[in-house]
Amino acid sequence: MNRLRTPIAIIGAGPAGLLLSHLLHQQGVDSLVLERRSRPYVERRVRAGLLEHTTVELLRRAGLAGRLDREALRHEGLELRINGARHHLPVTELTGLSTYVYGQQELVKDLIQARQEAGGRLWFDTDDVTLEIPDGGGPCTVRCTAQGQPTEITCDFIAGCDGFHGISRRSMPATAQPAFERSYPSAWLGILAAAPPVAHELVYAAHERGFALASMRSPHVSRLYLQIDPDDELEQWPDDRIWKELRARLDVDGEAGLTEGPVLEKSLVPLRSYVSEPMQHKRLFLAGDAAHIVPPTAAKGLNLAVEDVQVLSEAFAAFYGSGQDTLLEGYSQRRLPSIWEAEDFSDWMAHLLHRLPDAQAYGARLQRARLDALVNSPTAARQFAERYVGLSRSFAGAGKERAWQS
Ligand code: APR
Ligand code: PHB
Repeated sequence: MNRLRTPIAIIGAGPAGLLLSHLLHQQGVDSLVLERRSRPYVERRVRAGLLEHTTVELLRRAGLAGRLDREALRHEGLELRINGARHHLPVTELTGLSTYVYGQQELVKDLIQARQEAGGRLWFDTDDVTLEIPDGGGPCTVRCTAQGQPTEITCDFIAGCDGFHGISRRSMPATAQPAFERSYPSAWLGILAAAPPVAHELVYAAHERGFALASMRSPHVSRLYLQIDPDDELEQWPDDRIWKELRARLDVDGEAGLTEGPVLEKSLVPLRSYVSEPMQHKRLFLAGDAAHIVPPTAAKGLNLAVEDVQVLSEAFAAFYGSGQDTLLEGYSQRRLPSIWEAEDFSDWMAHLLHRLPDAQAYGARLQRARLDALVNSPTAARQFAERYVGLSRSFAGAGKERAWQS
């Protein structure tokens, strides 16, 4: 049995775990990252790719935005296509802020490179991770199989950054972790295609056949999504069916602006909302998808993960700097108002744009009224834009933490 000690064991090398270990390193705190998958696997895993202004600013301050600043596409607005009618939303004009398209796996590559250049410990292909968090406080133990060897790691704290299906959240006693969740009667089918983007901005299409989103990764690569039935399998969606459906939902006067190209990747994205409250159990702290999931409609998942680990790294740095655990104990309280604002906006946007199971029902009429307001009311457009760029999260819970104590 190999034995070692680290101040903080981080489970998961997604954006949350990698960025946390980078920010801790910059504040003089050592950590060890344990990842179940291989490095090539995490570097190739295609996920969302829309970064908010504050996320990009944080990455710049952390010295991580060199390639991002060269390659990311800065956007100043978006297009809504509502049953074949175009509507432009000038997001930057309304908020002063831009959004940036940069694939999550590109950010993951940048983070891994930065950690390796700084000599950070990242263990890929680490299996059988189990966590022991003593009830009475004191050091935690992480057991795993690393490079084929049984290994025991003693640590002051564990950061659970292992995504929605990880081990960390499941290591909390059910009573300590009441969950809030909602499921949706849809899923997304996402493709990455070697084809130029539909438009220079993102196109969100609310169509009677269902929702579609035309995003991109570069001037030569498109990222496209279709709302599908949650029980559909990938095999039911051969490439030609996908292109035909995209064309129908993005169509404006017989023209969707879509160029077809080889499909490089195809995956299913479930739509669900989930929040673990609190995000802490004794010396285990959850961050990113391990703590909360949003439907992908508003692309908030990655931005929330980045905010979580910024707050958590400051709290750990305060603990190691002055022995104060006030920030650590306040972690959930500090994060939850922002998380719920993003949950609310993502849920609202999902309801706004997706075809409902019963298109004639009351809900569908509400949807029409909301789309009408968004297109015709400058106030509704401004509020949407503030929430889309994440500005509204900076006000969530500010100075009113007591409202969040249950
Ligand atoms: N042991 C070690 N690693 C694990 C385990 C485990 N038992 N379970 C999961 N992991 C790893 C996964 O392989 C993955 O690399 O934890 C990592 C979690 O990364 P993400 O799922 O990317 O989650 P997070 O870092 O919180 O990033 C949030 O990811 O899901 C997207 O849209 C979401 O953009 C958001 C972002
Ligand atoms: C993406 O490019 O993956 C993306 C962009 C915007 C969204 C969701 C996903 O709202």
